[in-house]
Amino acid sequence: MPSVFSQKFTPESGILSLMSDLGSALAQARQGGDSLNMLGGGNPSYISAVQDFFRQAMQAILDTPGEFEHIVGNYANPEGDVRFRAALAALFAKEFGWQITERNICLTNGSQTAFFYLFNLFGGPYTDGSFKKILLPLAPEYIGYVDVGIHNTLFKAYRPEITCYADGTYKYSVDFNALQVTDEIGAICVSRPTNPTGNVLTQAEVTRLHALSQQHGIPFIIDNAYGTPFPNIISSEAQPIWDENIILCMSLSKLGMPGVRTGIVVANEAITEKLGAMNAIYSLAPGNFGAALALQATRNGDILRISNELIAPYYANKTTLALSLFRELLGDTPARVHKAEGAFFLWFWFPDLPIHSQELYQRLKARNTIVVAGHHFYPGLPEPWQHKQECIRVSIAGSDDTLISGIRIIAEEVKRAYQHQ
Ligand SMILES: Cc1ncc(COP(=O)(O)O)c(C=O)c1O
Repeated sequence: MPSVFSQKFTPESGILSLMSDLGSALAQARQGGDSLNMLGGGNPSYISAVQDFFRQAMQAILDTPGEFEHIVGNYANPEGDVRFRAALAALFAKEFGWQITERNICLTNGSQTAFFYLFNLFGGPYTDGSFKKILLPLAPEYIGYVDVGIHNTLFKAYRPEITCYADGTYKYSVDFNALQVTDEIGAICVSRPTNPTGNVLTQAEVTRLHALSQQHGIPFIIDNAYGTPFPNIISSEAQPIWDENIILCMSLSKLGMPGVRTGIVVANEAITEKLGAMNAIYSLAPGNFGAALALQATRNGDILRISNELIAPYYANKTTLALSLFRELLGDTPARVHKAEGAFFLWFWFPDLPIHSQELYQRLKARNTIVVAGHHFYPGLPEPWQHKQECIRVSIAGSDDTLISGIRIIAEEVKRAYQHQ
C-alpha cells in the first residue's frame, strides 16, 4: 500500500511522462541513426560565444588558489552563496533602483524547486482549516507548474481573451472581466515571458495584477526565467518590477546553464527566510557551482552584456527564421502563431483542426519530429475548451536545419489533418 505522498509523486505525472517520452524518442532516434527534429524540449541553445564565456569563468576559478576547493568543499548557507547573492542585489539595485540586499535573495536548485516551495507555501491547506489556491490569471501557462502541488487542485486558472491580427498572429490577454480574486486565493502567479506561448503580459496587465494582489494581501509571483535583465530573451518593452509584495523568480538556466541548476528568488526577507528553511530541510543548501560560475559576470555587469549582445540577438534571429518558415509553409492554412514576444517557443494554433493535439503529436513523432502537445499547458483549467486541443509548442532552440525540416513536417501533417486524412 503506497503512502499518499508516494502516490502523488510516483505515478505518470504530466511532466514526467512528457520528459520520459521526449528522452526515449531521442534515444530511439540515436540508436537507429535516424535524424530527429527535436522541437520539444525546454533546453536552451548551445551558443558558442556564451559557452566560451563560461568556460573562461571556470578556468578563472581553477586558476584562483583555494577557489575550487571552496566551491566543492563547503556547503553554502541555506539561502545560497552569500557572495553571489550580494552581487545580484547590487546589480538589481544599480539597474532598477530596488532597495534590496542579499537577505532579499534566496537561491534554489533550479527555479523549478522554487516553484515547488512557493506554491506549497501559499497554496494548499491553511492552519485555519481553509484551502487556498494559486491563481494563474491566464492559461495556457508553464507545464512545470502542473504537478508541483503536494495537494491536488492547487491552481485556479482563467481562459484568456484572444486578439487576432491580419498577419496570421494573435495574442492572449488577461480577461479581467472574468478574473476573480476570492478568499480562496493564496497567491497570484504569471510567467513573463510565458512558456509555452512567448506572450509577454503588458506593463498595464502586470500593474493591474500587482494592484489586485496588494488589495487582497497576497503575494504576486512573477516567473522571469526568460526575462530581463538576464537572459533577456524578450523582444517587447518589459521592465521587471519588484517590491515587498512581489516574488520575482529568475534562473541561470536559459542563460545557457540548465545543468548547474541555479534558481534565484527575490522576495521580502520573511519569504527568503522561509525558502532558506525549506532548502535546509530538502537539500541542506543549494549547490555552489552556478553561483560561482556567474559571480564575476554579475559583479562586473558582463551577465547583462552577454544577455544583450549574444543571447537576445541569437534568439531574435531564430524567431525570424521560424516565423518566416511558418508563413511560407502554413500561410495557406487556418493556422495562426502567437506573437513571439519572448522565450524560445512558438505556439501554433490550428483553429478547428479535426484531430486532437495529442494525435498530431503522435503523427509528428512517427515522423521523428518532436513537439509538445498543447493540452498539457492548462494547470487549473480542467473544463473542456476546444482551444486546449488545437495548439502545439515548438521550440526554436535547435539548429536551423532542425527548424526547417521540423516545421516542414508539421506543415505536411497539419494540412493532411485539415483534409480529414
Ligand atoms: C517559465 C519557466 N519557469 C521555470 C522554469 C524552470 O527552470 P529551471 O528549474 O531550470 O530554473 C522553466 C524551465 O523550462 C520555465 O520555462
